[in-house]
Amino acid sequence: MTAKTHNEIAAIDPDDIGHNSSPNPSFNDLIASRLSRRHLFGLGVGTAGAALLQACGGGGSGSGGGFPVLPAAPAPAPAPAPAPAPAAPKLGFTAVAKSLDDVVSVPPGYTASVLYRLGDPIAAGVPAYANDGTDAPATYDKRAGDHHDGMTFFGINASNKWDPANASRGLLAMNHEAITPLFLHPTGQTIVGTGNAAVRSVADEVQREFFLHGVSVIEVNKGASSWSYKQDSSFNRRVHTLTEMTFSGPAANTDYLKTKFSTDGSKTRGTLNNCANGTTPWGTYLTCEENWAGYFRRITATDNPSRSAKELAAFTRYGVAGTGRELWSTVTPDTADNIYGRWNAQVTGATATDDYRNGANTYGWVVEIDPFTPGSTPKKRTALGRMGHEGACLGPVVAGKPLVWYMGDDSRNEYIYKFVSTKAWDAADINGGLAAGDKYMDDGKLYVAKFNADGTGVWLELKLGVNGITASNPAYAFGDAADVVINVRLAADAAGATKMDRPEWTAVNPKTGEVYVTLTNTNAASRPITATDAANPRFYNDPKGVAATAQTGNPNGHIVRFADDGADPTALSFKWDVYLFGARATASADINLSGLVADNDFSSPDGLWFSSVTSGLLWLETDDGAYTDVTNCMLLGAVPGKVGDGAAKTITNVDGATTRTQATFVGKAPGTDGLRRFLVGPKDCEITGIAESGDGRALFVNIQHPGETTAAANIANPALFGSHWPEGGNARPRSATVVITKNDGGLIGL
Ligand code: FEO
Ligand code: CA
Ligand code: CA
Ligand code: CA
Repeated sequence: MTAKTHNEIAAIDPDDIGHNSSPNPSFNDLIASRLSRRHLFGLGVGTAGAALLQACGGGGSGSGGGFPVLPAAPAPAPAPAPAPAPAAPKLGFTAVAKSLDDVVSVPPGYTASVLYRLGDPIAAGVPAYANDGTDAPATYDKRAGDHHDGMTFFGINASNKWDPANASRGLLAMNHEAITPLFLHPTGQTIVGTGNAAVRSVADEVQREFFLHGVSVIEVNKGASSWSYKQDSSFNRRVHTLTEMTFSGPAANTDYLKTKFSTDGSKTRGTLNNCANGTTPWGTYLTCEENWAGYFRRITATDNPSRSAKELAAFTRYGVAGTGRELWSTVTPDTADNIYGRWNAQVTGATATDDYRNGANTYGWVVEIDPFTPGSTPKKRTALGRMGHEGACLGPVVAGKPLVWYMGDDSRNEYIYKFVSTKAWDAADINGGLAAGDKYMDDGKLYVAKFNADGTGVWLELKLGVNGITASNPAYAFGDAADVVINVRLAADAAGATKMDRPEWTAVNPKTGEVYVTLTNTNAASRPITATDAANPRFYNDPKGVAATAQTGNPNGHIVRFADDGADPTALSFKWDVYLFGARATASADINLSGLVADNDFSSPDGLWFSSVTSGLLWLETDDGAYTDVTNCMLLGAVPGKVGDGAAKTITNVDGATTRTQATFVGKAPGTDGLRRFLVGPKDCEITGIAESGDGRALFVNIQHPGETTAAANIANPALFGSHWPEGGNARPRSATVVITKNDGGLIGL
């Protein structure tokens, strides 16, 4: 396989191709029903009250002192934040200029230090990473993985229990989404043959790659002057593609999940393409499987004749077809337990327990990991549905109320979901580990969002027998509850969900309970000018580089936000607007709808996370290929307002000679007081993953795949590598976690 290429606007994640051919809206025909914002937002939306507490990313669990104020919470009660956060955070740093340099730039008065790089050893006796492709493959399950992504800081106390407020010691759990194969072996991947006949001929290389995906848990400590990870901590752990996991929830132990490895459908091996993350209020980590479909080999010409109509519909909807992204299934000879052959999702045996025809059903889940119990077996929580899971953001946590997770499915034209637990939250479950997960995450209701043109929206339940999810559905005959969660995209199609411009991270404002979702970008093929809608309203050209290469569709992305009605996260209706539109500062007014300027313009929002300590401070990360003629990817700090703080607006979209108007709702322009660039990363990277120490005085940020577009032919000439970060010189680039501190020891961003 070749290194990834940025050959068109949304090609940063080459797997994020759309597979949604459903006729769902796009509801241009509903525009006439639009109401005024004044009317809509005079209906009790906005202030959420003191009961709305904590959320997401690092928040609800790990990331710090801002853990929910849980009424009558027993020990270990979360401690208050050491430093009182201002009622309304105010950005207090100097904006960082856009940059194409191969460095991490932060504002004056801040220091960014490299903490944890690809290949760094996490067990005693494992040698330092040579970073030339010669490190012993068997050591990689004790090394940092590649492509660092979503992460959470779990403060830990002297009794080795979860202490969200801990300012100097914690477990950092982080995802390793994928790999840049070129830099992992002496001269990149060794592949013999081409097309369907291409095979990986060096098993050692594949072993490295198996271990480099997944999750790290590492102990980190603040020293006298800097943070470091503890190489020999007993908490250190890698979860990767060979780690055994069990299924729970509606799909567990069903025929859909039976394989040669698990003849009763109770378990599988591994997790991969772990993108964004999530947390629980009991102190565990959620890792989310995003672009898993492409890793499986399924040659349609040979496999389709062996498949049922339903199976074929499911494969088409999820994009399970091809040779397999890294050709893992092609290594011969296979092992007795099929560590290579399990990536072949074709019918090869007599029954489903003789092969891995159901292998693709065992991926696409939210996976719960207990970082405090290194030997525990992760659980795939099937009640949250199978999709291209970006993340799972915990909503407001209130004792006696259900728990809610908001989730994006990141492919073009996919949907936004939420899961509502059946059980009401009981703070006695703090530190309850995976048993608490069994209680809250295996039983509940799953919904998908429909955004109406009038600024309202509804949550449509995804359950057998409702919203068209029946055996008589013409597109897919749903059989049972397991079928619904395994094929939840098809269920959401049937329900009539709204196609979005690639839903990435979700973030919940701890001050209001309002939910923000990054819609990173899309292209003209997936959303032509005739298919814009109120919540995905723009079509434009963003010319790139001196050649002014056309980038049409919505190449810069936007961020939608919504408030569940009554400030109740279990509500079945909501109000929404568009918080921010990505754009070049120089773009025209109908493109640069948020009035971005040189100090805060950005493209392709992806990571999104509210600080727990500096409550209300939002961090926004980019994964861009559109504005990269001008700047590398970045991190911005923001202080958002609330749903409805802007105005209704009708914009004019342009596609060549065609113009078309589109009504939408635009949030109040942020200005530089509301949005400011905080960090710019090295060449060819994505900025993703973010967490904070319990006192908000250390911010952990991941630099993913610097130099990822380096051409394979350049491996012999280090001078031509796209990046040498972080080591510099002629070194191969490495994904890495950086820790950012303020030189005066203050709160980050203020
Ligand atoms: Fe892995 Fe949707 O970014
Ligand atoms: Ca992402
Ligand atoms: Ca992305
Ligand atoms: Ca990436």
